[in-house]
Amino acid sequence: MAIDLLQVGWGGAARHRMDGEIRWNMSEDYGLRLGTPAFFADPYPTFERMRSEDPVHWSPALGRWHLTRYADIDALLREPRWSANRVRLFLGSLPTETRKELQPLEQALVNQMLFADPPDHTRLRSLVSKAFTPRVVERLRPRIAAIVNELLDQVAATHRMDAIRDFAYPLPAIVICELLGVPSEEREQFKHWSSALAAFLGNYRRDPEIDRQALATGIEAADYFRITADRLREQPRDDLLSLMVAAEEQGDRLSVEELLANSVLLLGAGHETTTNLIGNGLLALLRNSDQRRRLQNDLSLMPMAVEEFLRYESPVQVTSRGAPEDVEIGGKRIAKGSLVNFWIAAANRDPERFAEPNQLDVERQNNRHLAFGAGIHFCLGAPLARLEGQIAFTTLLERMPNMKLATDTVEWQPNISFRGLTALSVTW
Ligand code: HEM
Repeated sequence: MAIDLLQVGWGGAARHRMDGEIRWNMSEDYGLRLGTPAFFADPYPTFERMRSEDPVHWSPALGRWHLTRYADIDALLREPRWSANRVRLFLGSLPTETRKELQPLEQALVNQMLFADPPDHTRLRSLVSKAFTPRVVERLRPRIAAIVNELLDQVAATHRMDAIRDFAYPLPAIVICELLGVPSEEREQFKHWSSALAAFLGNYRRDPEIDRQALATGIEAADYFRITADRLREQPRDDLLSLMVAAEEQGDRLSVEELLANSVLLLGAGHETTTNLIGNGLLALLRNSDQRRRLQNDLSLMPMAVEEFLRYESPVQVTSRGAPEDVEIGGKRIAKGSLVNFWIAAANRDPERFAEPNQLDVERQNNRHLAFGAGIHFCLGAPLARLEGQIAFTTLLERMPNMKLATDTVEWQPNISFRGLTALSVTW
Protein backbone atom coordinates (compact mmCIF):
# COMPACT_ATOMS: atom_id res chain seq x y z
CA MET A 1 0.00 0.00 0.00
CA ALA A 2 1.22 3.45 -0.81
CA ILE A 3 2.46 5.67 1.97
CA ASP A 4 -0.28 8.02 2.97
CA LEU A 5 0.74 11.11 4.81
CA LEU A 6 -1.84 13.52 6.12
CA GLN A 7 -0.55 16.81 7.29
CA VAL A 8 -3.03 18.52 9.60
CA GLY A 9 -2.32 22.22 9.39
CA TRP A 10 1.13 23.79 9.70
CA GLY A 11 3.18 21.47 11.84
CA GLY A 12 0.08 19.77 13.18
CA ALA A 13 -0.15 16.08 13.99
CA ALA A 14 0.91 14.02 11.00
CA ARG A 15 -0.44 10.53 10.47
CA HIS A 16 1.63 8.03 8.54
CA ARG A 17 -0.01 4.86 7.27
CA MET A 18 2.36 2.23 5.97
CA ASP A 19 1.09 -1.22 4.97
CA GLY A 20 -1.73 -1.11 7.44
CA GLU A 21 0.41 0.15 10.31
CA ILE A 22 -0.74 3.48 11.68
CA ARG A 23 1.86 5.54 13.43
CA TRP A 24 1.15 8.90 14.97
CA ASN A 25 3.91 11.41 14.84
CA MET A 26 2.64 13.79 17.48
CA SER A 27 3.73 16.95 15.72
CA GLU A 28 7.14 17.00 17.28
CA ASP A 29 8.66 20.39 16.55
CA TYR A 30 12.25 19.54 15.72
CA GLY A 31 12.98 23.26 15.91
CA LEU A 32 12.79 22.87 19.70
CA ARG A 33 15.60 20.30 19.70
CA LEU A 34 17.92 22.40 17.59
CA GLY A 35 20.21 24.49 19.72
CA THR A 36 19.93 22.52 22.98
CA PRO A 37 23.13 21.41 24.78
CA ALA A 38 22.41 17.79 23.75
CA PHE A 39 22.08 18.89 20.13
CA PHE A 40 25.39 20.76 20.16
CA ALA A 41 27.12 17.77 21.77
CA ASP A 42 25.87 15.46 18.99
CA PRO A 43 23.45 16.79 16.36
CA TYR A 44 23.45 13.64 14.22
CA PRO A 45 20.72 11.61 15.99
CA THR A 46 18.38 14.60 15.58
CA PHE A 47 19.25 14.88 11.89
CA GLU A 48 18.69 11.16 11.46
CA ARG A 49 15.21 11.39 12.96
CA MET A 50 14.31 14.44 10.94
CA ARG A 51 15.52 12.80 7.72
CA SER A 52 13.75 9.51 8.30
CA GLU A 53 10.54 10.75 9.95
CA ASP A 54 9.87 14.17 8.48
CA PRO A 55 12.45 15.21 5.88
CA VAL A 56 10.44 18.29 4.91
CA HIS A 57 9.64 19.65 8.34
CA TRP A 58 7.85 22.81 9.42
CA SER A 59 8.97 24.21 12.77
CA PRO A 60 6.40 26.56 14.32
CA ALA A 61 8.94 27.51 17.02
CA LEU A 62 11.45 28.77 14.45
CA GLY A 63 8.93 29.79 11.80
CA ARG A 64 10.74 28.02 9.01
CA TRP A 65 10.96 24.79 7.05
CA HIS A 66 13.80 22.29 7.49
CA LEU A 67 15.08 20.04 4.72
CA THR A 68 17.44 17.20 5.63
CA ARG A 69 17.69 14.88 2.59
CA TYR A 70 20.73 15.09 0.32
CA ALA A 71 18.70 14.82 -2.89
CA ASP A 72 16.37 17.73 -1.97
CA ILE A 73 19.14 20.02 -0.78
CA ASP A 74 21.51 19.27 -3.66
CA ALA A 75 18.74 19.96 -6.20
CA LEU A 76 17.48 23.18 -4.58
CA LEU A 77 20.93 24.71 -3.99
CA ARG A 78 21.46 24.43 -7.75
CA GLU A 79 18.20 26.22 -8.43
CA PRO A 80 19.11 29.95 -8.69
CA ARG A 81 15.46 30.97 -8.39
CA TRP A 82 15.47 29.86 -4.76
CA SER A 83 16.40 33.22 -3.35
CA ALA A 84 19.53 33.83 -1.29
CA ASN A 85 18.20 37.28 -0.48
CA ARG A 86 16.84 36.13 2.85
CA VAL A 87 18.03 38.56 5.49
CA ARG A 88 14.60 40.14 5.73
CA LEU A 89 13.13 36.66 6.33
CA PHE A 90 15.61 36.01 9.17
CA LEU A 91 14.69 39.23 10.89
CA GLY A 92 11.00 39.34 9.92
CA SER A 93 9.79 37.96 13.25
CA LEU A 94 11.45 40.71 15.31
CA PRO A 95 9.44 43.52 16.90
CA THR A 96 9.41 46.66 14.71
CA GLU A 97 11.55 48.63 17.19
CA THR A 98 14.30 46.01 17.29
CA ARG A 99 14.18 45.65 13.52
CA LYS A 100 14.65 49.40 13.17
CA GLU A 101 17.58 49.28 15.56
CA LEU A 102 19.21 46.53 13.49
CA GLN A 103 18.59 48.28 10.17
CA PRO A 104 22.27 49.19 9.47
CA LEU A 105 23.30 45.56 10.02
CA GLU A 106 20.45 44.30 7.83
CA GLN A 107 21.53 46.65 5.05
CA ALA A 108 25.16 45.59 5.38
CA LEU A 109 24.20 41.90 5.06
CA VAL A 110 21.95 42.54 2.09
CA ASN A 111 24.99 43.95 0.28
CA GLN A 112 27.03 40.76 0.74
CA MET A 113 27.19 38.40 -2.24
CA LEU A 114 26.17 35.53 0.05
CA PHE A 115 22.74 37.12 0.44
CA ALA A 116 22.36 38.48 -3.11
CA ASP A 117 20.54 37.10 -6.15
CA PRO A 118 21.55 37.61 -9.79
CA PRO A 119 22.32 40.01 -11.37
CA ASP A 120 23.83 41.68 -8.24
CA HIS A 121 25.30 38.37 -7.11
CA THR A 122 26.99 37.77 -10.48
CA ARG A 123 28.51 41.25 -10.46
CA LEU A 124 29.76 41.10 -6.85
CA ARG A 125 31.21 37.61 -7.16
CA SER A 126 32.98 38.28 -10.47
CA LEU A 127 34.88 41.19 -8.91
CA VAL A 128 36.79 38.97 -6.51
CA SER A 129 36.48 35.48 -7.99
CA LYS A 130 39.77 35.70 -9.90
CA ALA A 131 41.67 35.92 -6.64
CA PHE A 132 40.29 32.55 -5.48
CA THR A 133 40.72 30.19 -8.45
CA PRO A 134 42.64 26.99 -7.65
CA ARG A 135 45.56 28.17 -9.82
CA VAL A 136 45.93 31.54 -8.13
CA VAL A 137 45.47 30.01 -4.69
CA GLU A 138 48.13 27.37 -5.41
CA ARG A 139 50.69 30.20 -5.53
CA LEU A 140 50.05 30.74 -1.82
CA ARG A 141 51.31 27.24 -0.99
CA PRO A 142 54.82 28.25 0.18
CA ARG A 143 53.49 31.10 2.32
CA ILE A 144 50.80 28.91 3.92
CA ALA A 145 53.40 26.20 4.63
CA ALA A 146 55.65 28.82 6.25
CA ILE A 147 52.81 30.09 8.50
CA VAL A 148 51.91 26.52 9.49
CA ASN A 149 55.52 25.81 10.44
CA GLU A 150 55.94 29.08 12.33
CA LEU A 151 52.83 28.31 14.39
CA LEU A 152 54.06 24.81 15.18
CA ASP A 153 57.59 26.11 15.99
CA GLN A 154 56.04 28.21 18.75
CA VAL A 155 54.61 25.17 20.54
CA ALA A 156 56.90 22.32 19.45
CA ALA A 157 59.07 22.36 22.57
CA THR A 158 56.13 22.44 25.00
CA HIS A 159 54.72 19.14 23.64
CA ARG A 160 51.15 20.39 24.07
CA MET A 161 48.81 22.95 22.61
CA ASP A 162 45.25 24.05 22.40
CA ALA A 163 44.96 23.14 18.72
CA ILE A 164 42.22 25.74 18.20
CA ARG A 165 43.85 28.72 19.92
CA ASP A 166 47.41 27.97 18.87
CA PHE A 167 46.91 26.58 15.38
CA ALA A 168 43.47 26.20 13.77
CA TYR A 169 42.39 29.77 14.56
CA PRO A 170 45.51 31.79 13.72
CA LEU A 171 46.34 29.97 10.45
CA PRO A 172 43.30 31.01 8.36
CA ALA A 173 43.15 34.38 10.12
CA ILE A 174 46.72 35.23 9.08
CA VAL A 175 46.15 33.93 5.53
CA ILE A 176 42.95 35.91 4.86
CA CYS A 177 44.35 39.08 6.44
CA GLU A 178 47.45 38.86 4.25
CA LEU A 179 45.31 38.26 1.16
CA LEU A 180 43.06 41.21 1.94
CA GLY A 181 46.03 43.35 2.89
CA VAL A 182 45.23 43.90 6.56
CA PRO A 183 48.37 44.68 8.59
CA SER A 184 49.25 42.05 11.18
CA GLU A 185 49.01 44.45 14.13
CA GLU A 186 45.34 45.09 13.27
CA ARG A 187 44.48 41.41 13.06
CA GLU A 188 43.58 40.89 16.72
CA GLN A 189 40.38 42.92 16.60
CA PHE A 190 39.01 40.71 13.81
CA LYS A 191 38.68 37.73 16.09
CA HIS A 192 36.08 39.62 18.07
CA TRP A 193 34.31 40.86 14.92
CA SER A 194 34.15 37.55 13.12
CA SER A 195 32.95 35.73 16.27
CA ALA A 196 30.19 38.29 16.82
CA LEU A 197 29.01 37.98 13.21
CA ALA A 198 29.16 34.17 13.33
CA ALA A 199 27.09 34.25 16.53
CA PHE A 200 24.54 36.47 14.77
CA LEU A 201 24.17 34.02 11.87
CA GLY A 202 23.76 31.13 14.32
CA ASN A 203 21.28 33.05 16.53
CA TYR A 204 18.10 31.17 15.59
CA ARG A 205 16.23 32.16 18.68
CA ARG A 206 17.14 35.80 18.08
CA ASP A 207 18.73 36.49 21.45
CA PRO A 208 18.61 40.33 21.41
CA GLU A 209 22.02 40.66 23.08
CA ILE A 210 23.72 38.66 20.31
CA ASP A 211 21.96 40.78 17.67
CA ARG A 212 23.02 43.97 19.42
CA GLN A 213 26.66 42.89 19.64
CA ALA A 214 26.63 42.00 15.95
CA LEU A 215 25.23 45.44 15.15
CA ALA A 216 27.99 47.19 17.10
CA THR A 217 30.55 44.95 15.45
CA GLY A 218 29.16 45.52 11.96
CA ILE A 219 29.41 49.28 12.43
CA GLU A 220 32.95 49.01 13.78
CA ALA A 221 34.09 46.72 10.97
CA ALA A 222 32.51 48.91 8.28
CA ASP A 223 34.25 51.98 9.79
CA TYR A 224 37.56 50.13 9.74
CA PHE A 225 37.20 49.20 6.07
CA ARG A 226 35.96 52.71 5.18
CA ILE A 227 39.14 54.25 6.63
CA THR A 228 41.32 51.55 5.02
CA ALA A 229 39.63 52.09 1.64
CA ASP A 230 40.31 55.83 1.87
CA ARG A 231 43.95 55.04 2.52
CA LEU A 232 44.12 52.63 -0.41
CA ARG A 233 42.58 55.14 -2.79
CA GLU A 234 45.62 57.33 -2.13
CA GLN A 235 48.14 54.51 -2.09
CA PRO A 236 46.95 51.31 -3.77
CA ARG A 237 48.80 48.08 -2.98
CA ASP A 238 48.96 44.61 -4.42
CA ASP A 239 46.15 43.07 -2.39
CA LEU A 240 42.46 42.16 -2.59
CA LEU A 241 41.20 45.28 -0.82
CA SER A 242 43.06 47.51 -3.30
CA LEU A 243 41.46 45.52 -6.15
CA MET A 244 38.02 46.09 -4.67
CA VAL A 245 38.71 49.78 -4.09
CA ALA A 246 39.75 50.12 -7.75
CA ALA A 247 36.45 48.46 -8.79
CA GLU A 248 34.54 50.84 -6.54
CA GLU A 249 36.31 53.83 -8.09
CA GLN A 250 35.03 52.78 -11.50
CA GLY A 251 31.62 53.67 -10.13
CA ASP A 252 29.08 51.37 -11.68
CA ARG A 253 30.72 48.09 -10.65
CA LEU A 254 30.79 48.33 -6.86
CA SER A 255 29.23 50.83 -4.46
CA VAL A 256 31.04 51.88 -1.29
CA GLU A 257 28.46 49.99 0.80
CA GLU A 258 29.06 46.83 -1.23
CA LEU A 259 32.81 47.23 -0.88
CA LEU A 260 32.52 47.43 2.90
CA ALA A 261 29.97 44.60 3.20
CA ASN A 262 31.95 42.17 1.06
CA SER A 263 35.25 42.96 2.79
CA VAL A 264 33.58 42.02 6.07
CA LEU A 265 32.17 38.85 4.44
CA LEU A 266 35.56 37.71 3.12
CA LEU A 267 37.19 38.39 6.43
CA GLY A 268 34.53 36.48 8.41
CA ALA A 269 34.14 33.60 5.92
CA GLY A 270 37.90 33.19 5.77
CA HIS A 271 38.19 33.06 9.57
CA GLU A 272 35.65 30.82 11.27
CA THR A 273 34.99 28.08 8.75
CA THR A 274 38.54 26.97 8.02
CA THR A 275 39.34 27.02 11.75
CA ASN A 276 36.51 24.53 12.16
CA LEU A 277 37.65 22.35 9.27
CA ILE A 278 41.04 21.97 10.96
CA GLY A 279 39.70 21.58 14.52
CA ASN A 280 36.85 19.19 13.62
CA GLY A 281 39.07 17.18 11.27
CA LEU A 282 41.82 16.83 13.85
CA LEU A 283 39.37 15.63 16.50
CA ALA A 284 37.88 13.10 14.06
CA LEU A 285 41.31 11.83 13.11
CA LEU A 286 42.55 11.49 16.67
CA ARG A 287 39.38 9.63 17.64
CA ASN A 288 39.68 7.18 14.71
CA SER A 289 43.13 5.64 15.06
CA ASP A 290 42.71 3.21 12.13
CA GLN A 291 41.94 6.11 9.77
CA ARG A 292 44.79 8.12 11.18
CA ARG A 293 47.19 5.21 10.55
CA ARG A 294 45.97 4.84 6.96
CA LEU A 295 46.55 8.51 6.32
CA GLN A 296 49.87 8.63 8.11
CA ASN A 297 51.10 5.65 6.06
CA ASP A 298 50.10 7.31 2.80
CA LEU A 299 49.98 11.09 2.88
CA SER A 300 48.99 11.17 -0.80
CA LEU A 301 45.48 10.40 0.51
CA MET A 302 45.37 13.88 2.07
CA PRO A 303 43.10 15.61 -0.50
CA MET A 304 40.54 12.80 -0.07
CA ALA A 305 40.90 12.91 3.71
CA VAL A 306 40.19 16.65 3.81
CA GLU A 307 37.01 16.12 1.74
CA GLU A 308 36.00 13.45 4.23
CA PHE A 309 36.58 15.78 7.21
CA LEU A 310 34.36 18.34 5.47
CA ARG A 311 31.61 15.75 4.97
CA TYR A 312 31.89 14.06 8.35
CA GLU A 313 31.80 17.14 10.59
CA SER A 314 30.72 19.96 8.30
CA PRO A 315 31.94 23.39 9.47
CA VAL A 316 28.87 25.09 7.96
CA GLN A 317 25.92 23.05 9.16
CA VAL A 318 23.06 24.86 7.53
CA THR A 319 22.16 27.46 4.97
CA SER A 320 18.79 28.71 3.80
CA ARG A 321 16.81 30.09 0.88
CA GLY A 322 13.46 31.76 0.27
CA ALA A 323 10.92 29.73 -1.75
CA PRO A 324 10.39 31.48 -5.13
CA GLU A 325 6.79 30.28 -5.50
CA ASP A 326 4.34 27.84 -3.90
CA VAL A 327 6.01 24.44 -4.26
CA GLU A 328 5.37 20.89 -3.16
CA ILE A 329 8.28 18.91 -1.77
CA GLY A 330 7.90 15.44 -0.33
CA GLY A 331 4.12 15.86 -0.19
CA LYS A 332 4.27 19.17 1.74
CA ARG A 333 3.22 22.51 0.34
CA ILE A 334 5.75 25.25 0.94
CA ALA A 335 4.31 28.72 0.38
CA LYS A 336 6.05 31.34 -1.74
CA GLY A 337 8.39 33.49 0.35
CA SER A 338 8.84 30.91 3.15
CA LEU A 339 12.25 30.61 4.72
CA VAL A 340 13.65 27.11 4.15
CA ASN A 341 16.67 25.73 5.99
CA PHE A 342 18.92 23.35 4.08
CA TRP A 343 20.70 21.17 6.65
CA ILE A 344 23.99 20.54 4.87
CA ALA A 345 25.28 18.52 7.84
CA ALA A 346 22.27 16.18 7.64
CA ALA A 347 22.60 15.81 3.86
CA ASN A 348 26.27 14.89 4.31
CA ARG A 349 25.24 11.96 6.52
CA ASP A 350 22.34 10.79 4.35
CA PRO A 351 22.58 6.99 3.93
CA GLU A 352 20.77 7.29 0.57
CA ARG A 353 23.83 9.11 -0.73
CA PHE A 354 26.77 7.93 1.42
CA ALA A 355 27.53 4.34 2.43
CA GLU A 356 28.14 4.05 6.19
CA PRO A 357 27.63 7.80 6.59
CA ASN A 358 28.55 7.85 10.29
CA GLN A 359 31.96 6.30 9.66
CA LEU A 360 35.02 8.40 8.94
CA ASP A 361 36.65 6.98 5.81
CA VAL A 362 39.69 8.88 4.54
CA GLU A 363 39.53 6.92 1.26
CA ARG A 364 35.83 7.51 0.61
CA GLN A 365 35.08 7.36 -3.12
CA ASN A 366 32.76 9.69 -5.01
CA ASN A 367 32.51 11.97 -1.98
CA ARG A 368 30.31 14.69 -3.44
CA HIS A 369 29.50 16.32 -0.13
CA LEU A 370 27.69 19.64 0.17
CA ALA A 371 29.99 21.20 2.78
CA PHE A 372 30.82 24.07 0.40
CA GLY A 373 27.25 24.34 -0.87
CA ALA A 374 26.42 23.95 -4.58
CA GLY A 375 25.25 26.08 -7.50
CA ILE A 376 25.95 29.77 -7.96
CA HIS A 377 26.83 30.41 -4.30
CA PHE A 378 29.29 27.49 -4.12
CA CYS A 379 31.95 28.59 -1.65
CA LEU A 380 34.26 31.11 -3.24
CA GLY A 381 37.03 30.24 -0.80
CA ALA A 382 36.86 26.44 -1.28
CA PRO A 383 40.23 26.16 -3.09
CA LEU A 384 41.88 28.19 -0.33
CA ALA A 385 40.23 26.24 2.51
CA ARG A 386 41.20 22.94 0.86
CA LEU A 387 44.81 24.01 0.44
CA GLU A 388 45.09 25.30 4.01
CA GLY A 389 43.53 22.07 5.31
CA GLN A 390 45.82 19.83 3.28
CA ILE A 391 48.99 21.66 4.31
CA ALA A 392 47.88 21.88 7.96
CA PHE A 393 47.12 18.15 8.35
CA THR A 394 50.16 17.00 6.37
CA THR A 395 52.50 19.11 8.47
CA LEU A 396 50.85 18.10 11.75
CA LEU A 397 51.19 14.40 10.92
CA GLU A 398 54.79 14.83 9.79
CA ARG A 399 56.00 16.96 12.66
CA MET A 400 53.92 15.53 15.52
CA PRO A 401 53.36 11.93 14.38
CA ASN A 402 52.40 10.69 17.84
CA MET A 403 49.92 13.45 18.69
CA LYS A 404 47.18 12.44 21.17
CA LEU A 405 44.05 14.00 22.59
CA ALA A 406 44.76 15.33 26.09
CA THR A 407 41.11 15.13 27.11
CA ASP A 408 38.18 12.76 26.64
CA THR A 409 35.54 15.45 26.55
CA VAL A 410 35.27 18.39 24.20
CA GLU A 411 33.04 21.41 24.14
CA TRP A 412 31.31 22.52 20.96
CA GLN A 413 30.43 26.14 20.32
CA PRO A 414 26.74 26.82 20.91
CA ASN A 415 26.22 27.98 17.34
CA ILE A 416 23.64 26.31 15.15
CA SER A 417 25.15 27.43 11.83
CA PHE A 418 28.84 26.79 12.39
CA ARG A 419 30.10 23.59 14.03
CA GLY A 420 33.39 24.08 15.81
CA LEU A 421 35.18 23.37 19.07
CA THR A 422 35.84 25.98 21.73
CA ALA A 423 39.22 24.31 22.48
CA LEU A 424 41.09 21.11 21.63
CA SER A 425 43.84 20.14 23.99
CA VAL A 426 46.47 17.80 22.46
CA THR A 427 49.90 16.49 23.45
CA TRP A 428 52.76 14.74 21.60
C1 HEM B 1 36.25 24.89 5.35
C2 HEM B 1 36.04 26.12 5.09
C3 HEM B 1 34.79 26.67 4.44
C4 HEM B 1 33.53 26.14 4.38
C5 HEM B 1 33.03 24.82 4.96
C6 HEM B 1 32.71 27.09 3.65
C7 HEM B 1 31.37 26.90 3.35
C8 HEM B 1 30.63 27.71 2.53
C9 HEM B 1 29.28 27.44 2.10
C10 HEM B 1 28.44 26.24 2.52
C11 HEM B 1 28.90 28.45 1.29
C12 HEM B 1 27.57 28.57 0.54
C13 HEM B 1 26.49 29.16 1.38
C14 HEM B 1 25.18 29.21 0.65
O1 HEM B 1 25.01 28.68 -0.45
O2 HEM B 1 24.24 29.81 1.22
C15 HEM B 1 30.00 29.38 1.23
C16 HEM B 1 29.98 30.56 0.52
C17 HEM B 1 31.01 31.47 0.54
N1 HEM B 1 32.27 31.29 1.10
FE1 HEM B 1 32.91 29.68 2.10
N2 HEM B 1 33.49 28.16 3.31
C18 HEM B 1 34.77 27.94 3.75
C19 HEM B 1 35.86 28.76 3.59
C20 HEM B 1 35.85 29.97 2.97
C21 HEM B 1 36.97 30.86 2.82
C22 HEM B 1 38.39 30.56 3.29
C23 HEM B 1 36.50 31.97 2.19
C24 HEM B 1 37.19 33.24 1.78
C25 HEM B 1 38.35 33.50 1.69
C26 HEM B 1 35.11 31.78 1.91
C27 HEM B 1 34.28 32.69 1.28
C28 HEM B 1 33.00 32.44 0.89
C29 HEM B 1 32.18 33.40 0.16
C30 HEM B 1 32.60 34.79 -0.26
C31 HEM B 1 30.96 32.79 -0.05
C32 HEM B 1 29.75 33.38 -0.78
C33 HEM B 1 29.79 32.95 -2.22
C34 HEM B 1 28.60 33.39 -3.00
O3 HEM B 1 27.60 33.83 -2.41
O4 HEM B 1 28.68 33.34 -4.23
N3 HEM B 1 34.74 30.55 2.40
N4 HEM B 1 31.04 28.90 1.97
